[in-house]
Amino acid sequence: MLGPVILAASRSDRMRRLISAAPVTKQVVDRFIPGETVADIVPVIQDLTGKGLELTMDVVGEDITTPEQATAARDAYLELTGRLADLGLGRKVEMSVKLSMFGQSLDGGHELALKNVRSVVEAAAAIGTTVTLDAEDHTTLDSMFAIHEELRTDFPQTGCVIQAYLFRTEADARRLAASGSRVRLVKGAYKEPAEVAYQQKHEIDKAYVRILRTLMDGTGYPMIGSHDPRLISIAQELARKAGRKPDEYEFQMLYGIRSEEHLRLAAEGHRMRVYTAYGTDWYGYFMRRLAEKPANLRFFARSMITK
Ligand code: FDA
Repeated sequence: MLGPVILAASRSDRMRRLISAAPVTKQVVDRFIPGETVADIVPVIQDLTGKGLELTMDVVGEDITTPEQATAARDAYLELTGRLADLGLGRKVEMSVKLSMFGQSLDGGHELALKNVRSVVEAAAAIGTTVTLDAEDHTTLDSMFAIHEELRTDFPQTGCVIQAYLFRTEADARRLAASGSRVRLVKGAYKEPAEVAYQQKHEIDKAYVRILRTLMDGTGYPMIGSHDPRLISIAQELARKAGRKPDEYEFQMLYGIRSEEHLRLAAEGHRMRVYTAYGTDWYGYFMRRLAEKPANLRFFARSMITK
């Protein structure tokens, strides 16, 4: 029951100000967002890649309000790409972007977001890596899929995310699987109405399995974005049945969640990619992590009381 309340708070400016200003917040935030600048994050990237993990980097931020902020977001990704090139890590580290951070919701936002993300995709391709478009709330997805398709004309490795909780996703998955795309399947992290999305966990999990089967049986590259042990073992079974080799799909998990499992899967010979977020505008990302697991909220609340 707490999840929807926290997700509603994630859209509130008042809660944003309150929570961001609390002195203890940062310690809890660090568990999920281990740095604010490229300089902070480089040692984290080196540590994780040194352990045999691959990464997808997210410069946190979303729902910006001016084109200048969208340009700044693009520049933050370009700075990161330049640093990855210096480190020679382009092949191990890809990038995840939220189009709302690139201006998608502004006037003329679709074109603006496409222009900004194209610069990042070009820079990524120049160092041998790629970009995945994150999925935000359902109202943004037609634009996201159109941008994804457009980018794939020149950069076929560009990936996108689909969310098992949405009714539309089974059809999206069939289209993407047939077109040979890289696709990350997740359960979905936003507050969505019953008209467009399953609300019960068991329904979402069942949809996840149906969609994953479509992706595994298709011609694309499935990226299994989940920490759920049951779904991870089902994914392994579906990959085996579809005759996929270990380099024909990958697992993805979030930094700070089930970290032992990241290492276990990598040690078993799976490609394991850790979604690692950094930056200063962490509020929305952090609140979604709290909403996913109420125990996180209890830990957060306790640290506020005891400090
Ligand atoms: P589930 O929520 O059932 O969790 C399974 C287990 O994992 C839990 O029992 C717990 O042990 C652990 N766990 C999960 N979340 C936790 C947390 N926050 N803190 C501590 N433990 C936790 N969503 C979206 O809408 N758009 C997107 O683009 C993305 N991108 C994305 C990338 C990657 C790599 C991942 C892994 C996830 C996303 N998500 C996302 C988030 C996704 O939609 C979903 O909210 C979370 O992954 C939680 O769902 P699980 O599949 O892990 O299952």
